[in-house]
Amino acid sequence: MRGKEMVKGKFVTVEGCEGSGKSTQLKMLSAYLDKRGIPYILTREPGGSPIAEQIRNIILDGKNTEMCDECEAMLYAAARIQHLREKVIPALEAGKLVICDRFVDSSLAYQGVARGLGLEYVEAINRKALDLCTPDLTVFLNISPDRAFVRKNGADQNDRMEKQGLEFHKRVYGGYLQLLEKYPRICAVECNGTIEQTNKNIIDLLKSKGII
Ligand code: TMP
Repeated sequence: MRGKEMVKGKFVTVEGCEGSGKSTQLKMLSAYLDKRGIPYILTREPGGSPIAEQIRNIILDGKNTEMCDECEAMLYAAARIQHLREKVIPALEAGKLVICDRFVDSSLAYQGVARGLGLEYVEAINRKALDLCTPDLTVFLNISPDRAFVRKNGADQNDRMEKQGLEFHKRVYGGYLQLLEKYPRICAVECNGTIEQTNKNIIDLLKSKGII
């Protein structure tokens, strides 16, 4: 992890569109790390700490239809900095590998590109978080939203983000592809094969980058 504070552990974030198989892959990766006795924590955004989980509930509540885009972006940023200070940074300082299900690239793709707030605006409100903690590696699970939604049997209508519709999620995907071009720390893992193949590709990537 690059940041102004002294840290020993590595920081890996995992990104992808809805239905990209992130949860399954993270479970498989955890099983692999457990088996090898590698010290790590698995956490998620938005959430990962009690206060950040409360913010998550506000953001995703399907009843909050009046929420404006800027409020949404700032709530994600607020949950993030709390999660970093309360959970991620202490774990890195303890020398643990931190695997985080989503991080700032979700804000860049969803709020920056799909909502149209712009990458600069979203980077600015996440500046402190990025200064404290830039990922060593970001794994992007590459599957187009058309295929991903079929795989997960459509969107959860109680989830304010999931129910945005296919056009929105296509813009998110386009956002991720832009980020992939812009940031060398982001590596795509193709999700065309079996879940076991994808799992192997992720582990090979972590090994080749010296993370495990
Ligand atoms: P999850 O379903 O992967 O837990 O993520 C929750 C939702 O929040 C998902 O639709 C992606 C979205 N999201 C953003 O829009 N911006 C962010 O910064 C993060 C972390 C998630």
